[in-house]
Amino acid sequence: MSSTSTDSPSSDDRVLSGMRPTGALHLGHYHGALKNWAQLQNAHTCFFFVADWHALTTHYETPETISAHTIEMVIDWLAAGVDPSKATLFVQSRVLEHAELFLLLGMGTPLSWLERVPTYKDQIANLKDKDLTTYGFLGYPLLQAADILIYLARYVPVGADQVPHIEMSREIARRFNNLYGKDPLIEAQARAAAAKLPDSVRAQFHALRRAADQDGLTDKRDEARELIATSKLSRAEKDALRAQLGGGRRQILREPEALLTPESKLPGLDGRKMSKSYGNAIAIREDRASVEQKVKRMPTDPARVKRTDPGNPERCPVWQFHQAYTDEATRNWVQQGCTSAGIGCLECKQPVIDAILREQQPMLERAQPYVDNPGLVRDILADGCDKARTAARHTMHAVRDAMGLKL
Ligand code: TRP
Ligand code: SF4
Repeated sequence: MSSTSTDSPSSDDRVLSGMRPTGALHLGHYHGALKNWAQLQNAHTCFFFVADWHALTTHYETPETISAHTIEMVIDWLAAGVDPSKATLFVQSRVLEHAELFLLLGMGTPLSWLERVPTYKDQIANLKDKDLTTYGFLGYPLLQAADILIYLARYVPVGADQVPHIEMSREIARRFNNLYGKDPLIEAQARAAAAKLPDSVRAQFHALRRAADQDGLTDKRDEARELIATSKLSRAEKDALRAQLGGGRRQILREPEALLTPESKLPGLDGRKMSKSYGNAIAIREDRASVEQKVKRMPTDPARVKRTDPGNPERCPVWQFHQAYTDEATRNWVQQGCTSAGIGCLECKQPVIDAILREQQPMLERAQPYVDNPGLVRDILADGCDKARTAARHTMHAVRDAMGLKL
């Protein structure tokens, strides 16, 4: 769709993404999301934010961790090379406009759209120790849609698990534009033309149009077009109905696209997905001694009980680390040495340890000033919040107008 009057020029290629404040991030986050963010900021207008309201949808009983987790997490963003002179970094709860858009979008969002999001029932089943049958948790993807739509974001870099949420944001934007982006002239002409249709045809046409507009069913739109084509209306009347059907809507909110983050090649220390809750993670700012210890304790191919037993790298999580971290010569050395029992596992792990430490060094250096003075992080966020608010307010003016909230 082409851009519209509500887009300011710089909003055309906006990227937006958010993370819940989980505290210190690990190397999986770095190789999954953050490296990607640090790239995107060079080519796009980027907004990256801390989704602290989203954290409360599931952790409403533990508010005491949010603030510290926010600072820790943002230090890791900065450590990873996310640059506040290029990207806008902010905190969701300090841009109240998100809440206003969330409320307004809630008016016309069918409950069934929220209930059918796959993560909804999954999470309720998985987190049995928490009562997630709350209004806030049901609204999680709607709040996320507000986060995205308020910046008219074009691209949303996320992992595969978030794609259904982006899909829903698209549907919500489409529905909003259909409901509130009507062109009064086209509407009047179409109404006059429809009045000339026989009652039963008109009813059928309205039903098809509604299905096409509200539920995005394109085959219904095609059927409605067919109905117009075979009617006895004049050419001008047919054109008016087709214009109404083909959109004839102002694009107030933009339909965003998911930018699927490539899956990180790095598993956890035990070969499963790296996750703090599995206890198999290495933090982005893990101290040197601890990195060394963690890698040295990694499980290896269970067939290598003794140093003289040959092994198979395919059955060893250390091999996956080699694939993420070391060069071809080193990997050949591993293949050769492991399968012939020519090298020991500790020997094999050393190049991985060295590579991780080498990768972390510049990140530790970038983080240090912020660790020494967290006030700097607060300043960056305050500045980012101001910028985000300006952009959000711009959209909200158009949204309020479209929804009749003007004096
Ligand atoms: N739901 C996202 C997650 O858990 C976090 C998030 C909230 C988000 N709002 C967003 C991501 C908007 C992208 C865009 O990872
Ligand atoms: Fe794993 Fe390396 Fe030991 Fe082989 S030598 S089992 S690849 S750690």
